[in-house]
Amino acid sequence: MSTPETITAPAPVPEPVAARTAQNRRYLMCRPEHFTVSYTINPWMEPAKPTDTAKAVAQWQKLYDLYLHLGHDVELIEPLADYPDMVYTANGGFVIGGRAYVPKFRFTERAGEAPAFADWFRASGYDTVEPKEVNEGEGDFLLVGDVILAGTGFRSTGDSHREVGEVFDREVISLNLVDPRFYHLDTALTVLDPVQGEQDGGPERANIAYLPGAFDDASRAILEERFPDAILVSDEDGSVFGLNSASDGYNVIISPRAVGFEAQLRERGYNPITVDLSELLLGGGGIKCCTLELRAAEEEQA
Ligand code: ARG
Repeated sequence: MSTPETITAPAPVPEPVAARTAQNRRYLMCRPEHFTVSYTINPWMEPAKPTDTAKAVAQWQKLYDLYLHLGHDVELIEPLADYPDMVYTANGGFVIGGRAYVPKFRFTERAGEAPAFADWFRASGYDTVEPKEVNEGEGDFLLVGDVILAGTGFRSTGDSHREVGEVFDREVISLNLVDPRFYHLDTALTVLDPVQGEQDGGPERANIAYLPGAFDDASRAILEERFPDAILVSDEDGSVFGLNSASDGYNVIISPRAVGFEAQLRERGYNPITVDLSELLLGGGGIKCCTLELRAAEEEQA
């Protein structure tokens, strides 16, 4: 061929990177002053392994400080001495529009946390709804747009999916978790942007990320259909609790071990920020587990 040497191949056109915007969030957290592992209710918990409460507090503090630095509001609930798992406030309820659906814990070890969270919601002015069904709050319920994604298989029951749908008058998509390491929905799926919006490259649908292997075939099929542009996370990143992350629509707080997921987020225009909660992983929890979103009533929202 006689292609002149002066003609060079055109530079590959980069994929349009979506323009992301951080949304202000209000969170509820609980300082892990009494954190330890004294019982086993998930495969990560080994009471024989020593824990370091001071280290847990120091790691947690970094997450707390980062949220404030990013401009979010963080409320605190007083830790109770007999409840070492209370640091995982995601399980303390599910809150939309100023209404709080109270948890009913699967295991007696955590049952006493529920009245403490209910009291906190009442004292803080939330319309507080007591549950009939076993449910572990935002550990198993995640809001995407108008829809509630709900996990079951290990903790929250299918009946709680019906109940949460009635409490908030919203569609609920039930998802079956099948791997005991990923016993709450928030260990296997993360909501990157709850708002479905227009982006530079067209309509944006890639607003969740998940670990396919944590779900049964039927649930995987539902996720593929409803979220065709979702980020699929590798087993490697999932196993270090990469999906147990908190996003404000732009900044995504993730484990430093989830290096593949970090790159995937960057490619999609998100800003991953790593925080190491290795000590809290001994209790089977990570960033999202320590974070409960408090969604205010419409008229209070900025
Ligand atoms: N040790 C706690 C439990 O097993 C950890 C809870 C983690 N929370 C979460 N939202 N995934 O109940």
